[in-house]
This record gives sequence, structure tokens and C-alpha cells, in this order.
Amino acid sequence: MSSRRDFMGKALGGFTAVGGIAALYAMKRTWDPLPSVKAAGFTTVDLSAAQPNVLNVEKWRGKPIFILKKDKDTKQDPRDVVVGNDHFLIAIGLCTHLGCIPAYFGDEHKFKCACHGGEFDASGHEIFGPPPSPLVIPPFKVDGTKVVLGEAGPEYKKMKDAGLTA
Ligand code: FES
Repeated sequence: MSSRRDFMGKALGGFTAVGGIAALYAMKRTWDPLPSVKAAGFTTVDLSAAQPNVLNVEKWRGKPIFILKKDKDTKQDPRDVVVGNDHFLIAIGLCTHLGCIPAYFGDEHKFKCACHGGEFDASGHEIFGPPPSPLVIPPFKVDGTKVVLGEAGPEYKKMKDAGLTA
């Protein structure tokens, strides 16, 4: 009996280790930062190396900022930040329910919040569960292939005036 328990313990331990490595790998893949420069409350991020449907997470004023280059299977949206021919979601990575950090599931093109099961689509719109509003778009300015977080450029002002940023 005890050897059977030992076997079960080892088998379960093995599953946990494999799960842990997979989770770490998934985290690494989803949390790759892009080249960025921080100065006086602004973070300048170079988007030219962004890969489609891979979430990049930058930091701006202590908050995680999600940067997601849309792939061809992802619907375009008036909240998209357009840089050259590419469409990006740029949003504060905090769930609008109670502030947890949602994870991105690229195969489903969705963010899921582990705290209470809220979900957002790849444009940041709330699509399931308790979140009351979309992921918030921070002030940004497009500068060539770069985006300056913290500076309200004309593209951001237009979105804000149209009520699309929050
Ligand atoms: Fe995200 Fe509650 S904090 S669903």
C-alpha cells in the first residue's frame, strides 16, 4: 500500500513539475518586453520588433501595459492604435473589475482574468463575467514605429473624445 502511495506521489509530482515548466514557458512567451526607454513619466516603446498575436508587457508609472500586435485573424477595432500598416491593442493590463492582471490566450485571441473569470477580447472589450468596462487605454503618442506612453497625442485625443479609451 505504501509503495502504491509512493508511486502516486511521484507520478503527481512529475505532473506538477511538467505543469510548472509549461506555465513558466507560457509566462515567458506572454511577458516578453519590447525595447523601451523610460524618462520622466514617459515610456517610449519601439514596436518594430513586435510579433503578431504575442503579448508584450511594458511598465508605465508602475502599471503593466499590454501591447498586442493583431494578427490577420483578429478583428480590427476603433480602439486600435495604428502604426504603419499594423494594428495594436495598447491598454493598461489591469482587469476593470477589481484590478487583477489578466493573462492572454493567443489561440483564443482572448484575455482571461483568473480572479473571477472575467474575459476580454483582443481589442480589450469585456466579453464575459464581472468586468464592467473595457481595458483602459493609457495616454499615448505614435512617433514613427515607436509609441510614447504617457503623452496624449492626436490619435489618443481623438479616441478619448469619442469615449473609446475607458
Ligand atoms: Fe478580474 Fe474580478 S478582478 S474578474
